[in-house]
Amino acid sequence: MDGALESITPAEFQAGKAKGYRILDVSLSPSIRGAQYIELGKVNGPIEGIGKDEKLLLICQKGKRSYFLQSRLKHYGYTNTKVLEGVDLARREGVSLVLAVGGGSVMDCGKAIALAVPYDGDVWEGFWAKKGEVRHQPLPLGVIVTMCGTGSECNGGAVVTNEAVKIKTDRDYPQCNPRFALMDPTYTLSVPRNQMLYGGFDALSHIMETYFSGPDEENVSDDIAEALMRGVIRDLRAAAHDPSDYNARSNLMWESTMAENRIIKLNKRTDFMAHMMEHQLGAYTDCSHGAGLAVIHPVYYRRICQKGAVKFARFAVRVWGIPQEGRSQEELALAGVEALAGFIRELGLPTTLRELGVTGDTPLEEIANSVPLTGGGYGNLTHKDVLEIFRACY
Ligand SMILES: [Fe+2]
Repeated sequence: MDGALESITPAEFQAGKAKGYRILDVSLSPSIRGAQYIELGKVNGPIEGIGKDEKLLLICQKGKRSYFLQSRLKHYGYTNTKVLEGVDLARREGVSLVLAVGGGSVMDCGKAIALAVPYDGDVWEGFWAKKGEVRHQPLPLGVIVTMCGTGSECNGGAVVTNEAVKIKTDRDYPQCNPRFALMDPTYTLSVPRNQMLYGGFDALSHIMETYFSGPDEENVSDDIAEALMRGVIRDLRAAAHDPSDYNARSNLMWESTMAENRIIKLNKRTDFMAHMMEHQLGAYTDCSHGAGLAVIHPVYYRRICQKGAVKFARFAVRVWGIPQEGRSQEELALAGVEALAGFIRELGLPTTLRELGVTGDTPLEEIANSVPLTGGGYGNLTHKDVLEIFRACY
């Protein structure tokens, strides 16, 4: 990525600036009539049927995709490629504030743009392919949250996908912290029920990924995490039953923030192995983040719960209210995981990778080998373990 994104605005498009361009869309249901579908993840050389001297207009519903992929097309000789909107617009218009109005992807995209606009170097290599050092001042960012779950409104973290190399990466730069976040639960009420459930489960996952790591001695971070998990479970249950339940939706919004505002991570190693597995599955299948997590968590935890039996047993008793009497620590640990699996079924979340679009042709081994291993939890997984987990999820 050389930072020189070439784009046109929707207004310029309306005014006919894209006349003579062949329109390509990465979405199967194109947003512009007549656009040709192109699977950008499979662009690994010349594209059959498209001449390199053709003028191409890349329509991308998600800004991050257009931003990272235009250079890929250019790399293969498609030099007359433009995208709609993005960083170039911010540069040209002299934007002084990025305002992200939406959910996690939008907020993360806002961070990526805010970081990129004042930067002249290769943004992907500098900040996303590996952890970089932010020595410049990103544009100030404000967010208005319309879908909760990721907690992106309260930290500098962003998940960015480079589909050309099939890497979904997660970096946290405090310099990208939003300057303000407007959080009105009524804005989330029109979110479709499934998306609401995926967001809520993502928040629960963030708390579990923090909780299921050392230290295992009694500590305040884990105490807060237990209260938050009980809250998410209660409120997700209520919101699933009645999506218009303001109290539940309001609590879910705040619980999502509390999960990721770094408070419960104080002195915790954190695991985030389920996230690493989901990110790579998502990079290959484009499944919803929360849906992928719902499939992975029970399978992953069944595998590691005996290694972290102290914490998993505590989870069973304090979060799920499972009576301790008559059960060994090992039995309690497994009972906690099964309670989680039962909750996922109760909400109607997906429980298999097949439901997420994974087929026999999906290169599970390749995906497993691309998963970063965090080593922060109880499993210390290898890539072979990850592949076994994927197969058990299938
Ligand atoms: Fe997440």
